[in-house]
Amino acid sequence: MLNIRSQAGLTFDDVLLVPRYSNIVSRSHVHTSTRLSRNIELAIPILSANMDTVTESQMAIAMARAGGIGIIHRFMTLDDEAQEIARVKRAEGYVVEQPRKISPDATLQEAIKLMQSHSVGGLVVVDQNQCVVGMLTTRDVRFVKEGHQSVSSWMTPLTRLITAPPDTSLEQAREILQQHRIEKLPLVDSTGRLAGLITAKDIIRMQEHPKASKDTKGRLRVGGAIGIKPGSLERIEKLLAQGVDVLVIDIAHGHSENALKMIREVRRAFGNVELIAGNVATAAGTRDLCEAGVDAVKVGVGPGSICITRVVTGFGMPQLTAVAESAEVARAYNVPIIADGGIRTSGDIVKVLAAGASSVMLGSLLAGTTESPGMTVVRQGRKYKVTRGMASLGATLGRYTVESATEITEKDLEQIVPEGVEAAVPFRGNLSEVLTQLIGGLQSGLSYCGAHTIGELQEKAEFIPITLAGLRESLPHDVEQF
Ligand code: XMP
Repeated sequence: MLNIRSQAGLTFDDVLLVPRYSNIVSRSHVHTSTRLSRNIELAIPILSANMDTVTESQMAIAMARAGGIGIIHRFMTLDDEAQEIARVKRAEGYVVEQPRKISPDATLQEAIKLMQSHSVGGLVVVDQNQCVVGMLTTRDVRFVKEGHQSVSSWMTPLTRLITAPPDTSLEQAREILQQHRIEKLPLVDSTGRLAGLITAKDIIRMQEHPKASKDTKGRLRVGGAIGIKPGSLERIEKLLAQGVDVLVIDIAHGHSENALKMIREVRRAFGNVELIAGNVATAAGTRDLCEAGVDAVKVGVGPGSICITRVVTGFGMPQLTAVAESAEVARAYNVPIIADGGIRTSGDIVKVLAAGASSVMLGSLLAGTTESPGMTVVRQGRKYKVTRGMASLGATLGRYTVESATEITEKDLEQIVPEGVEAAVPFRGNLSEVLTQLIGGLQSGLSYCGAHTIGELQEKAEFIPITLAGLRESLPHDVEQF
């Protein structure tokens, strides 16, 4: 006898959501905010996948500005990943924590060069003890002809400089900048040392993205993926030093002793750092990760667009069933579920949120955007971007090169059993255009359910299984599509 479950597992195309009475008059009246993890909220329920053709700093910055979050992949050196995190953390924020500095004895020529090379409009002038003695901005040196003169002769000296203490709030900074009609406000501690810089430009930029995912210092949020190999704890230490908001223990089979051991080690070494782990696809897997102390569980074994895990190993769970049974368990632990893989449309997002996920992780849907690190190729006059599974042959070879300094041999090559493919996805333009479509679709989906929030969608949603005929009817049919 086969040891077999009595009910078939379901995935996106097996079901539709049943329309319900709705008193929502406009889709702008629904809320897309959600919980990424126990302690982090997002304005939109979308994560960009930790894949090397999807998320590096450019994607993570754009994702966080839109209200989601990007998870920087781990298939690069430890220093490179830390640098990618640092780029996101430095991209925005009302306090520049390490402003560019110069000595009062430096020449104006040196100052101009420094401002140009770092694309900044001003330098804080500090003495050997890091004490602030003045400020030099591009305005001060715009028409200077004698570049050999010293910075001290053209800077605004401390006696005339408006400064503020390190704990100045955004509101207070806004008032000071306005009152004195200045562009830059150095933060100075009680010993006179430089503690940061607030600029009007950064404050204005922050206002352009009202939904942005921000940490308590006003910096964009970002996640960093980590593995379970030796050296992972050192990687975590470096990522935390750069201000990473959430760590993602990312392994193909997350319901394994290796993953559980890593979760416990991270908890022991780093206390209550925000921690996501996965991937799992069952209630039992979710329970074990929750018991080990994670703050969110990533669900999905084999549904991804570039995955061949199910073909190669025979294992997997249809994604809607996997999410629904995981979410039921996770609810008792107050741990959100991230549905990872297989999402092709905004309709899929609505279905998987209705099934119990709090957010979704997207790979190939975002791999075609300008912000992804993938290569652009042109095929028969059309633009595509290259994407690949992180267990594909190419990605595995790339990882081997990063992890071991030695050349890969033919024998090593023979040993690789890929569980992912390399592929091309159509170029889709800027991330913001793609997200506008996805979030618009999600909002419409909520209104078809009469739900103002994702939580209400989960309470009210009723699925109906459909037949192949039902699926055919759901797609454009009997027309010539342009
Ligand atoms: P989508 O469908 O959004 O899926 O492109 C992205 C997710 O796929 C997973 N992933 C893989 N799964 N082999 C797999 O079985 C792979 O090589 C592979 N690479 C990525 C991953 O969970 C990602 O977020």
